Amino acid sequence: MAEDLTITTGSKAEQYQSLIPQIKALMEGEPDLVANLANIAAALKEQFGWFWVGFYIVKDSALVVGPFQGPVACTRIRKGRGVCGTAWEKAATIIVPDVEKFPGHIACSSLSKSEIVVPVIRDKNVVAVLDADSNACDDFDTTDQQFLEAIVNLIQW
Ligand code: SME
Repeated sequence: MAEDLTITTGSKAEQYQSLIPQIKALMEGEPDLVANLANIAAALKEQFGWFWVGFYIVKDSALVVGPFQGPVACTRIRKGRGVCGTAWEKAATIIVPDVEKFPGHIACSSLSKSEIVVPVIRDKNVVAVLDADSNACDDFDTTDQQFLEAIVNLIQW
């Protein structure tokens, strides 16, 4: 497909419904993991304008920052630490409406106010997490969870 994205307005669900086929098309026939993770992060950033969005990848005993869009971020996160490390440990999506109220939240930027972290699970193991941060409180809900989980399931890992 052409390397440009059609940005949609409308409800959050409508925005995801427009984005998902475009993400599928971007990844079609492309086996390179980094390329696909990079384009997913870029597509989400373009559509939703979040402050930071990207992947942390499980490498040995840590999550290591992978392809992302946004300001520089902490490089390594240990299991059980912060929102990302907790989503890894629990193998479950975590929605944080107000990061200041999440014990142990790792503040890569004071501008981040709410966050969602979605694990990428393959063969029952968490292989990565998708992390999105917003500069508004309460920006993520179960609609994001549903669609972001669908997006990470599209990734050929
Ligand atoms: N806030 C995350 C750290 C990663 S940055 O937000 C990009 C956490 O608590 O795990």
